[in-house]
Amino acid sequence: MSGKAETFALVGNPVEHSLSPIMHNAAFRVMGINARYITLRADTAADAVRRIAASDIRGGSITIPHKVAMVGCLDHISDSAKSIGAVNTFVNRDGVLHGDNTDWIGIVRSVKESMTAIAGKTVAILGAGGAARAAVYGMKKEGCIPVILNRTERNGMKLAEEFGCAYHSLGDIKAVQADILINTTPVGMEPETDNSPVSVDVLKNFTWVMDIIYNPLRTTLLREAETAGCSIINGLSMFVHQGAEQIRIWTDRAAPDEVMKEVVAKALNR
Ligand code: ATR
Repeated sequence: MSGKAETFALVGNPVEHSLSPIMHNAAFRVMGINARYITLRADTAADAVRRIAASDIRGGSITIPHKVAMVGCLDHISDSAKSIGAVNTFVNRDGVLHGDNTDWIGIVRSVKESMTAIAGKTVAILGAGGAARAAVYGMKKEGCIPVILNRTERNGMKLAEEFGCAYHSLGDIKAVQADILINTTPVGMEPETDNSPVSVDVLKNFTWVMDIIYNPLRTTLLREAETAGCSIINGLSMFVHQGAEQIRIWTDRAAPDEVMKEVVAKALNR
């Protein structure tokens, strides 16, 4: 390798505890790409775009709280990111900033890795934020039938209407049966790991339970789901697949997803 390393960045606030730098730097190393992935803390999406434009940053990831605001700040937005209403990936092509979304791909690939045929399956999606939007978009694309469950009716109804699917209040989850339940809320995430978004008695209504939280890998929801006899999918695979698709967008090359998974799992187990 020679010449100047290319720079990619994670843009958000906070960015300090993210595992994306470990994952992407490992991928670049294995791929023999002379690049580094850094963190860039920015207070607003507009501020982030100004700083990216004034730098030699080639691309990167967008995280909380800028995923939605970035849609209005970049030069070009992909169709999927437009439909989802959030950007988690950007690439600088000769000074033109392109925004994309790979979260939905991460969700779809991690579900398909565990379940074989998913078309026609009903998918209960907990939450109505950006991650839920990515899940609904991806699942619909695969021919699944999403049902939204959310704490706040207004938010849940809005999402359900926009994507033409059913809505139930989270309090009515007992009335919902589905092939898969996907949690996109932050309930159960570090440091409040004892919490679960649903009570144990409703878990029997679902064959599969997936949590997109990857810290901890074994959330209370997944532990209880396993005890209730459900098959489970943790958030590690989604995290790696969304990152692998980012690498493909930035470099036009396939990412070493097994290596990426290994380094993230190792960091989580430390
Ligand atoms: P993201 O963009 O990462 O998906 P978000 O936009 O903050 O995050 O969305 C979080 C989702 O989790 C929301 O749907 C939120 O429900 P409300 O619409 O009622 O706010 C849901 N959520 C957050 N905390 C929750 C809790 N304690 N119980 C149930 N749902 C919760």
